[in-house]
Amino acid sequence: MAQSTSSVITLNVNGEKRTLPVDHRTTLLDALRERLDLTGTKKGCDQGQCGACTVLIDGRRAVSCLQLAVAAEGREITTIEGLADGDQLHPVQQAFLDLDGFQCGYCTPGQICSALAVIEEHAAGWPSAATTDVRPEAGVPPLTADEIRERMSGNLCRCGAYVSIVQAVARAAGVETAQAAPALPQQGRTEEGTAA
Ligand code: FES
Ligand code: FES
Repeated sequence: MAQSTSSVITLNVNGEKRTLPVDHRTTLLDALRERLDLTGTKKGCDQGQCGACTVLIDGRRAVSCLQLAVAAEGREITTIEGLADGDQLHPVQQAFLDLDGFQCGYCTPGQICSALAVIEEHAAGWPSAATTDVRPEAGVPPLTADEIRERMSGNLCRCGAYVSIVQAVARAAGVETAQAAPALPQQGRTEEGTAA
């Protein structure tokens, strides 16, 4: 007997339950854009390279072009449409607007969703590849420009609005201006430069 290739699923998107039939091969990105008319989430590469399709799933960022819609059932999905509170923009949206963190805007929904998660990950003390001191006693690393660039590196912007994007993320995180990274710690070194 032939197996069914579609199912009726319920997605919890921006706090609303949406029930829809989907082919099992449908990505979350296509379900959001083509079936639920949530076109704020953008399709760039459709292969996990550009970050334009970034949404939050249970508070963690994910590229929705690499997620199957059926696998997202029962999880909390937040898209760019779910961030503002009525006419009140989310602080990350406002910072991008105030600091011109975009040019064409195509990558911006993904950048903003990613930035939200970056700010939470950083505040929770998660290190990144740019963190110079990962010892637990070092605490939360300063949110430098290098930290922001590294943590946002999954989101590409073809216009090259990166300078303003870094500043917008810093502003939204409560850091007025993203600073350069501090120098690497020099522990375990003598004046002659050899390990002590
Ligand atoms: S469209 Fe998903 S990463 Fe590019
Ligand atoms: S603002 Fe144009 S691609 Fe990012």
